Amino acid sequence: MNLTIEGISKTFKERHGEIKALDNLYLEFTNGVYGILGANGSGKTTLMRILATVMKPTAGAVYLNGRDIAQMDAEYRDLIGYLPQQVGLYKNFSAEKLLHYIAALKGLTKQEAKDKVEETLELVGLHKDRKKKVGKFSGGMKRRIGIAQALLNDPKILIVDEPTAGLDPKERIRFRNLLSKISANRIVLLSTHIVSDIEFIAKEVLILKDGKLVKKESPSHLLKGLEQKVWSLTVKGEELETYQSGYKVGNISRLQEGYHLRMISEEKPHLKAESVEPNLEDLYLYYFDEEEGME
Ligand SMILES: Nc1ncnc2c1ncn2[C@@H]1O[C@H](COP(=O)(O)OP(=O)(O)O)[C@@H](O)[C@H]1O
Ligand SMILES: [Mg+2]
Repeated sequence: MNLTIEGISKTFKERHGEIKALDNLYLEFTNGVYGILGANGSGKTTLMRILATVMKPTAGAVYLNGRDIAQMDAEYRDLIGYLPQQVGLYKNFSAEKLLHYIAALKGLTKQEAKDKVEETLELVGLHKDRKKKVGKFSGGMKRRIGIAQALLNDPKILIVDEPTAGLDPKERIRFRNLLSKISANRIVLLSTHIVSDIEFIAKEVLILKDGKLVKKESPSHLLKGLEQKVWSLTVKGEELETYQSGYKVGNISRLQEGYHLRMISEEKPHLKAESVEPNLEDLYLYYFDEEEGME
């Protein structure tokens, strides 16, 4: 599978002008998991909606194995699974009934549906809860049934928009493992603003900012680029503000004699500063402002 985005832009008309949600993007995806990282408003959902054909771009086109998806139409839609950022599930349906209903919408035959519903319930770990109403599900279970519905047609392209928002850490890990399990032989696009979601499972990380692509690299490459830019330093109480306004400061821990800071700086910020190994949270801090959606 090869999904290519050529010169995609999306402009929304507003009362006082226009918003360029996506600005001339060029991208290529092959099988594997891609993490799409960006602060709120950077264009993640817009990109996913266009790839899910829920929305048309203002300019540009998307090609699957060289064919324009707009032309492929239903043939393309049969190949994709989409879990939107906001999912409305039928609360009074049991998990099993919901999946049968969606399988019918997707055009599976009764027998196909029977097998596929069983298989996906098993895969997402909801088989024993299949008779429960989805309205009674926890947040994590709702996301898992969401993934299950997206997988019913065995999609070659799976698009999931902020699937881990609002999940507790345990559910998040479970979800991550599920995604890596189902990523073989398909393209998985996962948007998030929680860095740890993609640190270990993504083949590549894309960083979006104001509708533009800032970076597209493997997590390890991205981290290499941050070497000698992440520092740890202990400062006195009265120095804290100076450092906070002069540098991008991540973790701050209180010590008896002051504060211990983890910070980003192109140059060694102080003689006593020690270089530390970068992680993806540092990367987020490096590319985005501190207050933008860190979790
Ligand atoms: N339907 C819409 N109408 C007007 N503006 C929109 C619409 N959808 C998104 N936007 C704007 O486009 C930008 C990108 O939004 P979005 O793609 O939702 O970003 P993200 O998912 O990264 O938070 C934001 O400025 C947002 O306000
Ligand atoms: Mg979004």
